[in-house]
Amino acid sequence: AAPILVAIDGPAGSGKSSVSRASAARLGFGILDTGAAYRALAWAARETGSDLDDEAAVLALLDSWRYSSTLIGDQRIGVLLHDGQSYRTYDVTAAIRDHAVSGQVSRVSKHPGVRERLNRMFREIVADSGLPGVVIEGRDITTVVAPDAPVRILMTASPEVRAQRRAGELEGLSHEQVLADIAARDAKDALVVDFMTPAPGVTLVDTSELDFEQSVQAVVDIVRAVQ
Ligand code: C5P
Repeated sequence: AAPILVAIDGPAGSGKSSVSRASAARLGFGILDTGAAYRALAWAARETGSDLDDEAAVLALLDSWRYSSTLIGDQRIGVLLHDGQSYRTYDVTAAIRDHAVSGQVSRVSKHPGVRERLNRMFREIVADSGLPGVVIEGRDITTVVAPDAPVRILMTASPEVRAQRRAGELEGLSHEQVLADIAARDAKDALVVDFMTPAPGVTLVDTSELDFEQSVQAVVDIVRAVQ
């Protein structure tokens, strides 16, 4: 049977990634972090000296780029790059979280053709997972990637709370810097997809007043209600 899909969208710092991961573990589902794939593509574009703003160049890079991600347990992200003769494998789990990559990823995610290719890849990964369910999280999952998913959630939090959560993850950056970085990235991403207002039928989960455990419980409850 096809896996049960739990689609979760939201902006940076909404708690989406960590809450999605914990909810998936509790449900016995896999987790597909689509932002990690965009980050892995941006990493590869930098690594190969490709022009991130040139859609044709990024599409060409996709022909020699392969993505691998574990869907359960401690998630590892891998990139395979073809050098003309064979594929070389890179573990980019840590590298894709670098400030340098975060600041550049919107430049590759803005291209419609690139999004189409990755969306196809996401659907294949889910279909081939062999798991009972998959939590798939990103910006356009509830609207574009899996609009028919039985569970669709938009997770938000106030800008202040989001900056606070991110600051806890990033060392050496001031609160103001983190707030500015998040706002800048959201503004760029929002030009491409609307991840701030729930589409019809999408459940809004505002985590501003919820702690981590309460946020996980909210997602698990929504999934159990339809199971
Ligand atoms: O979720 P995360 O912050 O790791 O995503 C990194 C970037 O990937 C976003 O800033 C956005 O540019 C892009 N992204 C996207 N569509 C998705 C997931 C991520 O455009 N579904």
